[in-house]
Amino acid sequence: MDSNKQHSLSNDAYKIEGQPMFKVLQKVQKREEKGENIIHFEIGDPDFNTPNNIIEAVYRSMKDGFTHYTDSMGMPKFREVVSKATLRSRGFAPSLDQILVTPGANIIIYLAVKCLANPGDEVIVPDPGFPTYYSVLKFCDVVPVRIPLREENKFRMDPDDVRKAITPKTKLIIINSPNNPTGSVMKAGEMDEIFNIAKENDIYLLSDEIYSRMMYDTEERFHSPSMNDACLETTIVANGFSKAFAMTGWRLGVAIGPEDIIEKMGLLVQTLISCTPPFIQHAGIAAIEGEQSEVELMMDEYKARRDFLVAGLNKLPGITCLKNEGAFYVFPNITGTGMNSEEFADFMLKNAKVALLPGTNFGHFGEGYVRLSYATSLENIEKGLKRMNEALNKIQE
Ligand SMILES: Cc1ncc(COP(=O)(O)O)c(C=O)c1O
Repeated sequence: MDSNKQHSLSNDAYKIEGQPMFKVLQKVQKREEKGENIIHFEIGDPDFNTPNNIIEAVYRSMKDGFTHYTDSMGMPKFREVVSKATLRSRGFAPSLDQILVTPGANIIIYLAVKCLANPGDEVIVPDPGFPTYYSVLKFCDVVPVRIPLREENKFRMDPDDVRKAITPKTKLIIINSPNNPTGSVMKAGEMDEIFNIAKENDIYLLSDEIYSRMMYDTEERFHSPSMNDACLETTIVANGFSKAFAMTGWRLGVAIGPEDIIEKMGLLVQTLISCTPPFIQHAGIAAIEGEQSEVELMMDEYKARRDFLVAGLNKLPGITCLKNEGAFYVFPNITGTGMNSEEFADFMLKNAKVALLPGTNFGHFGEGYVRLSYATSLENIEKGLKRMNEALNKIQE
């Protein structure tokens, strides 16, 4: 390679940021290779196995020959099952042309932004929020308009903030409830208000509902802004199987939205990845139609972990932690320790052998917080809390 050759990549290539979480994971794995024993709170990947009926379904599907290209939009049979499930969960049955099957929910964010916003347009996003929102907007030259999720408001997005942020350049609002990284759950009325703001201003609303099945003892029953328009005009729902069904590695997501947008997003899928593997879609059918007891057992376990972790964090010096109502993340305030988010995460990795993520990985308003995922056993949570307590008490001595 010519070492004098510079700037040979496209301008866009220099805008690609990736996901900070994967970078931390690499750093942690390097330490583990050196023999360090690390407790993992950094990754949002369920420690449970995918339920067996789903595994059996994919095996059967492959044996039956579903190992070839398939419809880029998703197999009609799978989309029918998704439509029926949407009727049960959200009260409307989208047409098959409103449904797009994707390899994971992550890519839906790119597909939607690329098909809705031009360079220089604005997209309203939660901050703290899922890092892909910001990376995709940067890559597409679209301006992120960050709505702070404030601890005083239990990290819920405030519709008044959204209303004030609208400009003639706003193309899309992204909401995410339950939220990554705070675990907050928006109230139904707040979601409907944001839906109305989008509708009145003739802009779109992308509702990232990947954690929709992961809600605890909240008074709020599951709600989606799509219940207002059946995804016919304003709302696009991003959903996936990774979290509730412990299927992160399978890569299966579903977008539901207005037919014209879904058609274009489908053509982009066709262009970039051709289709989602058919046997993975059969797994999706099994996940939706099969016995749900394993999913419920996982949720019971997550709830027990959440209660234990939140109580334990609140006993640590300098730390306060709200009880999250959904997802499997807690977002404690660490300002009382005198460290910033990055320093705290580095300190814990070095001194407590505990991996967690600085709140700043999730946006500008994440400073002063860290994210812990409790997709790890109660035993590990207990160990991790003990180690953190010892490390924090040492600096106070
Ligand atoms: C808020 C949110 N949206 C989307 C995704 C993407 O999920 P997947 O691509 O595994 O379906 C994640 C994963 O962590 C997430 O937290």
